[in-house]
Amino acid sequence: MRTSGLLFAISLAVTVSAWDRICAVRPLGGGRDDGPSINNAFKECSENAAIILDSYYSVNTLLLAEGLSHVDIVLSGTVQYTPNIAYWSPNSLYMAYQNATTFWFLSGDHIHLYGGGTVDGNGQVWWDTYANNQDSGTAGGSSTTFARPVPLTVGNASNVIVEDITEIGSPFWNNFVYQSTNVTYRNINISSVSYSSNAAVNSDGWDIYRSSYVTITDSTVHNDDDCVSFKPNSTNIVVTNMWCNGSHGISVGSLGQYAGETDIVANVYVSNITMLNAENGARIKVFGGNPEPNSTAGGGTGYVQNITFENFYVHNVDNPVLIDQCYDTSASVCAEYPSNLTISDVHYINITGTSSGAEGSVVVSLECSDECQDITATGTHLSAPNGTATYICENIASTAELDFNCTAPST
Ligand SMILES: *[C@@H]1O[C@H](CO)[C@@H](O)[C@H](O)[C@H]1NC(C)=O
Ligand SMILES: *[C@@H]1O[C@H](CO)[C@@H](O)[C@H](O)[C@H]1NC(C)=O
Ligand SMILES: *[C@@H]1O[C@H](CO)[C@@H](O)[C@H](O)[C@H]1NC(C)=O
Ligand SMILES: *[C@@H]1O[C@H](CO)[C@@H](O)[C@H](O)[C@H]1NC(C)=O
Ligand SMILES: *[C@@H]1O[C@H](CO)[C@@H](O)[C@H](O)[C@H]1NC(C)=O
Ligand SMILES: *[C@@H]1O[C@H](CO)[C@@H](O)[C@H](O)[C@H]1NC(C)=O
Ligand SMILES: *[C@@H]1O[C@H](CO)[C@@H](O)[C@H](O)[C@H]1NC(C)=O
Ligand SMILES: *[C@@H]1O[C@H](CO)[C@@H](O)[C@H](O)[C@H]1NC(C)=O
Ligand SMILES: *[C@@H]1O[C@H](CO)[C@@H](O)[C@H](O)[C@H]1NC(C)=O
Ligand SMILES: *[C@@H]1O[C@H](CO)[C@@H](O)[C@H](O)[C@H]1NC(C)=O
Ligand SMILES: *[C@@H]1O[C@H](CO)[C@@H](O)[C@H](O)[C@H]1NC(C)=O
Ligand SMILES: *[C@@H]1O[C@H](CO)[C@@H](O)[C@H](O)[C@H]1NC(C)=O
Repeated sequence: MRTSGLLFAISLAVTVSAWDRICAVRPLGGGRDDGPSINNAFKECSENAAIILDSYYSVNTLLLAEGLSHVDIVLSGTVQYTPNIAYWSPNSLYMAYQNATTFWFLSGDHIHLYGGGTVDGNGQVWWDTYANNQDSGTAGGSSTTFARPVPLTVGNASNVIVEDITEIGSPFWNNFVYQSTNVTYRNINISSVSYSSNAAVNSDGWDIYRSSYVTITDSTVHNDDDCVSFKPNSTNIVVTNMWCNGSHGISVGSLGQYAGETDIVANVYVSNITMLNAENGARIKVFGGNPEPNSTAGGGTGYVQNITFENFYVHNVDNPVLIDQCYDTSASVCAEYPSNLTISDVHYINITGTSSGAEGSVVVSLECSDECQDITATGTHLSAPNGTATYICENIASTAELDFNCTAPST
């Protein structure tokens, strides 16, 4: 393996006794693929070890780190994926949910990824190709024929910390937390901003799926889709001290997309958020019902429960507070088939700021198709740039614990 540029500086173990082994990955240079060398490090240094990524690496091979145990990955350099769509679309790792695939599957127990370095997804080529292709899945999913990979997936993992990392140019979601527990992200700066007229589509900061005990804190996101999104079976989640610009908000969902599936999002605490120039602020999106037994556009069951949004500041946001339980569902279908995915125990505390005016004077819209239970709001101080702020409520079991006056739905 030394021929592929891997160094074993085992003698360093004397000075840094925390590790049995250190793998420093030497880049090949000249645009050659460093993926195989990095994968070798994941194999050679998979236990009680450190992997040093302190250079610029060009990666044109799926990064697969499986079964790591007590491993530090010190990324002070840059991992840049090639914009080689012909290779990546079929060869990135497929994870089924919304056809998501990844460039890097990071898996195991007690993993610490840090170091001040950068993960570069080379997104511009993907966004520009997408704009002329539009080959996407349903509800913003990826597609099996034009798969846009996630730059960093923490998958099938436990007890992971990712901190002090910059992420730029993601072709799809920036981070995917997949079938994992106890994962913390801290001091992550994300920028997925297009330099052409083509948007950085589906550039969510984080998506969490089938995972619990996930914390995201002290981070910034510049993007063009959700800042953080809690997908099916996200439980015990804490998101604090975030600065999000240009996003689609901090979103529960979308949920209930697949008939016959049960989606749960519960025990979520979101606090100290600055949300600027966004489509949404604090959002819950759930599909309506659907009569088709195999529907992939609504009809799922489950629940959203115990969700708190606190100390949430919005500026120039279209929908500062939004519950939509007819997401991506026509009003007529939703009226006939209300959602079977219930929403309860949702609390808004100290939501302040100004909307964009894109929805006229509406600053809060709580639109349930089934009845939503135990929704409360205190310390709401939202204004609209034109006219007195208005609040829309539909199918809310009780409005007694909302500190604003609801008007009937607009339609
Ligand atoms: C997955 O990709 C296929 C092929 O493009 C597409 O038909 C399907 O709708 C996608 N599924 C989802 C859930 O996005
Ligand atoms: C993740 O775990 C699931 C369930 O144990 C397994 O089926 C799947 O192959 C794993 N994925 C990877 C990439 O290891
Ligand atoms: C969560 O993971 C961190 C980092 O590995 C660890 O220090 C902590 O003890 C874990 N928490 C629990 C409850 O296992
Ligand atoms: C992220 O940006 C903040 C300033 O917004 C900066 O203080 C911090 O050092 C940056 N973190 C990284 C990992 O570069
Ligand atoms: C709120 O988050 C910001 C970063 O967006 C941070 O600077 C500030 O210290 C946080 N406030 C509290 C009370 O933690
Ligand atoms: C979510 O969890 C529930 C309860 O464990 C399970 O029945 C359901 O299949 C899970 N849904 C998904 C999408 O994993
Ligand atoms: C509600 O969720 C928060 C945040 O995860 C958690 O701390 C709290 O224990 C949950 N409450 C209940 C009753 O489960
Ligand atoms: C629904 O899916 C099941 C199993 O995948 C299949 O047997 C059935 O024919 C499908 N039904 C319809 C109406 O497509
Ligand atoms: C309300 O939230 C803002 C941050 O959005 C914070 O600065 C302020 O202290 C909070 N007010 C209260 C009463 O907690
Ligand atoms: C969905 O709700 C309808 C009533 O709106 C009910 O007839 C149906 O059985 C429910 N389906 C499931 C899978 O719970
Ligand atoms: C409110 O103002 C915004 C811009 O400030 C404008 O885009 C919007 O059309 C206005 N809406 C109404 C209902 O006047
Ligand atoms: C709600 O309306 C009632 C009756 O018109 C009024 O007394 C009250 O001040 C209003 N509350 C708010 C928060 O605007």
